[in-house]
Amino acid sequence: MSVWASREFDDHEQVCFFSDERAGLRAIVAIHSTFLGPAIGGTRFKAYDSDTLAIDDALRLSRAMSYKSALAGMPVGGGKSVIIGDPAALKTRELLHAYGRFIDRIGGSYATGEDVGIGVKDIDTVAEVTRFVGGTSGGAGDPSVHTAIGCVHGLRAVMQSRFGTDSFEGVRIAIQGLGAVGWRIAERLHAARAILIVADIRPEVVDKAMRAFGANAQPSEVIHRAEVDIYAPCALGGVITESSAREIRAKAVAGAANNQLATPRAGAILAERNILLAPDFVLNAGGVISGLEAASNMPGRKQVKFAPLEERLEAIHDRLGEIFRRSRVEGRPPEVTAEQMARELIGR
Ligand code: NAI
Repeated sequence: MSVWASREFDDHEQVCFFSDERAGLRAIVAIHSTFLGPAIGGTRFKAYDSDTLAIDDALRLSRAMSYKSALAGMPVGGGKSVIIGDPAALKTRELLHAYGRFIDRIGGSYATGEDVGIGVKDIDTVAEVTRFVGGTSGGAGDPSVHTAIGCVHGLRAVMQSRFGTDSFEGVRIAIQGLGAVGWRIAERLHAARAILIVADIRPEVVDKAMRAFGANAQPSEVIHRAEVDIYAPCALGGVITESSAREIRAKAVAGAANNQLATPRAGAILAERNILLAPDFVLNAGGVISGLEAASNMPGRKQVKFAPLEERLEAIHDRLGEIFRRSRVEGRPPEVTAEQMARELIGR
């Protein structure tokens, strides 16, 4: 198939295909925009059912990184890589080095970090052969901590916009997915006296949440229908389909998971039902925001002074508030307004 014909293509600046048969490496690097600075985006290592799906995933995630970085006020662009194949079977030092040499060859218009199938240790290995990486063990560290803090700042904006208060006391929140981000969100919301309903496919973590937070549990397949104020998807993307959007009882949807909307129509259904959606690429930007220093230390970048990390994470609150206001004025769903705002920032 033609890359240019992909419905995800959206005028990507550059798409690179790399191969090193001896190392078992096949990788795609997609650079959506360098309008605001060198592109940054993680590396996903995954067994795709087809090359077309791998290309589409790289393009879609790369565009989302452009939006996320632009709306977070970062002087960087958006990109993403995928390595095709099962990481458990293929991941070797030789492969990661071959990959790193290709990243190096792109020459500083793209820097990468961890994503699904690639951890901090792998990034350390890639960093042995290229400077164009962030999120090494000696760098910004675990992004999920900052992602969770940013999400809770964003949830306060959701509270103000939908309920006219920023207190979580007695507010019922359903959290789907208690992983690195979801668990930390739960901790903070529990400390702020919210009432938690939780779901995860790992029963042990659900039990732990019941003990630690006095949470109630629901099966993951039905938690979107829970009788709550806010539904927070923090596990998988695509959970808001046109049918689940019709079943949600919460008055707002705001969680960390990437690409929550299965289709644009699912977002429109939420808006028609007066359910406020916090666009995920705004709410979950804390991890990217925490990597700003590393991103701006890339070779060739001029050194800029930034506000302290805590302030930059807190800014997610104001940014979401602005998106909610503008979307009300425009009469459009928040995710459409946010996308429009991001495209303005990247000159599209
Ligand atoms: P994680 O892998 O640590 O946690 C995911 C959790 O969801 C696990 O506890 C897993 O058991 C659970 N889970 C998986 N399938 C499930 C299902 N069908 N129903 C209920 N629970 C299920 O991942 P992490 O880092 O917490 O990320 C969560 C989401 O947030 C992902 O969508 C990720 O893309 C997104 N995100 C993460 C960022 C980060 O800094 N880690 C940054 C931005 C977005």
